[in-house]
Amino acid sequence: MADKAITINDMATFCKKKGFVFPNSEMYGGFSGFFDYGPLGVEVKNNIKQSWWKRFVKSREDVFGIDGSIISHPKVWKASGHVDCFSDKMIYCNKHKKSFRADQLIEDVVGKPADGLSKKQLLAEISIHSEKFKKAGYDLAQDISDFNLMFRTFVGSSQSEDAVAYLRPETAQLIFADFKAVCDTSRAKLPFGIAQIGKAFRNEISPRDFLFRTREFEQMEIEYFIHPEMKECSLLTNRDFSFNILTAKHQKQGKEHGQMSAAQMLSFGLADEWHVYWLLEQYKWFLDMGIAPLSLRLREHLKDELAHYSSACFDIEYKFPFGWKEIHGSANRGQFDLTQHKRYSKENLELFDEESKQKVIPRVIEPSQGVDRAFLAFLFDAYHDDSERGNVVLRLHPALAPIKVGVFPLVNKLREKSREIFDPLKEEFECFFDASGSIGRRYARADEQGIAYCVTVDFETLDDASVTVRDRDTTAQVRVKIGDIADTLSKLLSGKVAFSDAGKAV
Ligand code: GAP
Repeated sequence: MADKAITINDMATFCKKKGFVFPNSEMYGGFSGFFDYGPLGVEVKNNIKQSWWKRFVKSREDVFGIDGSIISHPKVWKASGHVDCFSDKMIYCNKHKKSFRADQLIEDVVGKPADGLSKKQLLAEISIHSEKFKKAGYDLAQDISDFNLMFRTFVGSSQSEDAVAYLRPETAQLIFADFKAVCDTSRAKLPFGIAQIGKAFRNEISPRDFLFRTREFEQMEIEYFIHPEMKECSLLTNRDFSFNILTAKHQKQGKEHGQMSAAQMLSFGLADEWHVYWLLEQYKWFLDMGIAPLSLRLREHLKDELAHYSSACFDIEYKFPFGWKEIHGSANRGQFDLTQHKRYSKENLELFDEESKQKVIPRVIEPSQGVDRAFLAFLFDAYHDDSERGNVVLRLHPALAPIKVGVFPLVNKLREKSREIFDPLKEEFECFFDASGSIGRRYARADEQGIAYCVTVDFETLDDASVTVRDRDTTAQVRVKIGDIADTLSKLLSGKVAFSDAGKAV
């Protein structure tokens, strides 16, 4: 369980100090909303993406992967609604001589969530709390304007309006734009999904909370295409699965979240079977990758919060030190996107469904996962300031750990013997060799880096050809024969053997 006392700033400091994440362009004073992943961070991030891709693409027969480009024909973004609707509501302050995101300003000054409020509602909140804004040093304008979040660029030799293109603000639209090509080439039959992992860019007005709201981030998205009349989901077999959930009704009544099974969500009509199925799959991925159940919940979107394309939407939220926040969004996009692209491109995006012998525009459920927010949630959940050990222990799931195995000679004299053990191990696992400082100091460093197991070579190794294996989470140690070490580590990392059964207790 994470030590929740740590703040987001502490986490940013920890990540920088240990080589997980650095502020971008720091030598020039940093660049707000942009971050670089360091040597340990890039490994964790890649592990997150690999775990998700393996589970939702590679090990399924009904999901196909793509890797679309970052810049597309501008009509893609006109058809999707992003040119006209993808904007934040801004309010100008005469004192600061700049505009602020109205909902965030209300959150900061009034301490009340204002995400998803209409312009009228935002102005009403500001008017009700006008004294608070005055006291906080704001002199706000009487109207709210729209600010489009897409980054613009030019393609080709001209910089006229005709040459304007956009960096993609989500990966989803590439999936819709490639829908026909995937159908034509992969013999996909409804229901099926197309998945993509890649960068997205949003010119956020106030990037904040470290990796939580940035201007460049990564998404892992699936568009899952279903026959529009298909209601039942045969894949939804675990209907007793219980979510922590904050429904729209709870929110209106000012209540805390409660618990609800998948079956109850269906019987209360909160979402359709396919939507519940994908919520469950994504929610369970977080649990299986080690997130503490009490730190995770679903939140149903209120009607006036829904994006222009969605008829129902749920977030998966994580309990960060700065509150429950969205780390995943799962929307029922209906037939919106394919219908729009059909209209704008004049391409026939209907699919012939063998089973019903009908030509249909499929409806879509979209699980949309931010990689960087997942990274942040996994790090917070793993972070444990262990007062007994006197150091931080990063209890990452072994599959996410940036380094799986550390190999340490007890003393420098044993370096050569240790290298003999390390060299073949590093062919199989992400390994780290460390011979500097006391063994206690090396264990502490390994704990902070989240290294799952440490292998120590000592003088007994020369006599009995065995080494000590130390478990990061408990500090328990077992003795394992050198000949068995690769097999034992592989079983430990995949969870096939309990640590206490991995060797002779020390
Ligand atoms: N295609 C749907 C879509 O993009 P979204 O709710 O705007 O929906 C999905 O974004 C996910 O992308 C979010 O749940 C979050 O994890 C991530 N995300 C969105 N904006 C982000 C930002 N500015 N910084 C970091 N992650 C972001």
